[in-house]
Amino acid sequence: MSNTEKEHKNIPEHVAVIMDGNGRWAKERGQDRVYGHHAGVLSVREVVNTAGAIGVKYLTLYAFSTENWNRPKAEVDALMELLVATIRKEVDELHKNNVRVHVIGDFDALPPVCQKEMQEAMDMTAANTGLNLILALSYSAKWEILRATRQIAEAVKNGSLSADEITDEVFHSHLCTSRFPDPELMIRTSGETRISNFLLYQLAYAELYFTPTLWPDFGKDQFLAAISDYQNRERRFGMTSEQIQPSK
Ligand code: FPP
Repeated sequence: MSNTEKEHKNIPEHVAVIMDGNGRWAKERGQDRVYGHHAGVLSVREVVNTAGAIGVKYLTLYAFSTENWNRPKAEVDALMELLVATIRKEVDELHKNNVRVHVIGDFDALPPVCQKEMQEAMDMTAANTGLNLILALSYSAKWEILRATRQIAEAVKNGSLSADEITDEVFHSHLCTSRFPDPELMIRTSGETRISNFLLYQLAYAELYFTPTLWPDFGKDQFLAAISDYQNRERRFGMTSEQIQPSK
């Protein structure tokens, strides 16, 4: 298969990204961690544009975890301000590019100004049909799974659901990502090889791609390299190679 053919075939529908390494990137330059987060926004821009251009339908970015609230207050405040400023600055361009913005996570835990800006971006882009840009904010998978479990337990308690009706589909419908397919590819930058409480249920069969590149150095070429790596993998979902490709 030629590279061009490959490029258009087997593009993952949903790519999830742990954007890691902003702090180390800044430190290497003798700068404050926040400097790294600012540089990281340029990578976000480039990856969003590239994902949209090659036909990825869903891109989930882990922008702020539940655990990130424990960082020094100055960094938390700076990250929240950066999120608000970035979405404010970029929303017209995203809208023009037919991108639909979504937020997953504990929305109520976000500062009111952040909630307002995100809600406006979601409302403005609600009818767009191109890339779905899903920002995970104040998100952690354990929080999400516990929340789903509580909702299901409530439904069983009030009699609207029986225990044997709790299928994968029902469980999925209680997750923050109920409107989205599960990611086929998860990318983590900066050399760390952990999932860090990100989409634990949804990543069950995802291909995992780890790169030593720090997030601010991750752009179009690095994203395309991850896609190309994914395209060379065989996804078996617990079956054998022969079942997937009978002529093999
Ligand atoms: C991880 O690097 C990065 C974050 C916790 C924040 C990511 C946020 C952005 C890239 C900016 C805003 C994003 C959007 C979607 C507008 P780290 O600080 O953990 O780096 P380290 O591991 O080197 O310390």
